[in-house]
Amino acid sequence: MKNTIKILIAVAVMISIVSCQNDKKPNYQYMPNMYESVGYEAYGEYDVFQGEQEAMQPVAGSIPRGWMPYDFENSNTGYQLAKDTLKNPIKYTAENEANGKALYDIYCAICHGAKGKGKGYLVEREKILGVPSYDDAGRAITEGSIYHVMYYGINSMGSYASQTSEHERWQIVQYVQKLKAELEGKTPRIDPESDMASSLIPAVNKRPEEVDQDKEDHNNAQ
Ligand code: HEC
Repeated sequence: MKNTIKILIAVAVMISIVSCQNDKKPNYQYMPNMYESVGYEAYGEYDVFQGEQEAMQPVAGSIPRGWMPYDFENSNTGYQLAKDTLKNPIKYTAENEANGKALYDIYCAICHGAKGKGKGYLVEREKILGVPSYDDAGRAITEGSIYHVMYYGINSMGSYASQTSEHERWQIVQYVQKLKAELEGKTPRIDPESDMASSLIPAVNKRPEEVDQDKEDHNNAQ
């Protein structure tokens, strides 16, 4: 008997709850904070913010993680300064040269040619003109100027800053310097690989996968 009463009460309570539901209105909310967040929504409009917009530009001068500012301006002065003062921070190793060659063949050879004579496929097909040879005495390219033109581009040559990491650009610089030396009949520079450390400390910014590769190489070498 007692149980029957309990069941009846339970049923009555359930019916009273269900019968109050109105599908046209939002339902009863327990803990409404789970639905209506107290924090500001990323793209919400709020009076408190400038322009009533929560999403804002990063503070002027912010630097994205894994990216280093390049100090030389995209101007003739910046070019000249880079040409005279900017040096390749990575070592001239066989490994860097090999990576530089692979990247050069992907990005540069189509215009500059595999040997750097300025006779790439697009030049032979007359799709682009005015591609110089790397031993062009009038230009007298340097490590700094090669890096600079890859970063910003120069006239009809585009920028390679978005396709390559800082470290990869310096590897290409080494390879271009090698092509230049060969065109001039000189011996390309190779630094003695005395200390392993140089390849371990990411002196310049690398992509995360490059750093992983270095660690792996180091582990394999040990
Ligand atoms: C679409 C064709 C094209 C591609 C691809 C290209 N270049 Fe060039 N490059 C040019 C042209 C054209 C010039 C001459 C620009 C000028 O001074 O008017 C030039 C000039 C240069 C110079 C000499 C700049 C100076 O200081 O006078 C260097 C060094 C150079 N390129 C390196 C590279 C490297 C490294 C790559 C690959 C990452 C590359 N280029 C890819 C067309 C190209």
